[in-house]
Amino acid sequence: MTDRVRALVAAHRGDRGALMPILHAIQAEFGYVDAGVVPVLAAELNISRADVHGVITFYTDFRSEPAGATVVKLCRAEACQSVGAEKLIAHAEQVLGIKVGQTTPDGAVTLEQVFCLGNCALGPAGQINGQVRGRLSPALLQELVR
Ligand code: FES
Repeated sequence: MTDRVRALVAAHRGDRGALMPILHAIQAEFGYVDAGVVPVLAAELNISRADVHGVITFYTDFRSEPAGATVVKLCRAEACQSVGAEKLIAHAEQVLGIKVGQTTPDGAVTLEQVFCLGNCALGPAGQINGQVRGRLSPALLQELVR
């Protein structure tokens, strides 16, 4: 993994604020940002390990472990709450047998929360493997996850 991380650093070294595109590239390639890349990135970019760790942990889109095959993000911001987001989340947790922030034991689904996807008029909104969906009902959510 280290050699590939160094190659990704080399590909983005000239980018402005190179750490972010490097982290995105790492996550795109490996599915998550392993803690082991922190010292590599710190050395390669001549910044502290604390700085690298701080960026990774500040942005919730960076994962510290692999996600499930399907990633379901459900919006919990105000507009979606007003049209049933919390009920939808409770339903998803019950059907999947996991809580928000967890992955099913078989690795099939990761359930996450987000706070506004810019799809407020079509709430409750969510994102399934990166695709934004609106007017999610329990039945539609189950159909999309299947
Ligand atoms: Fe849910 Fe904006 S509040 S998409």
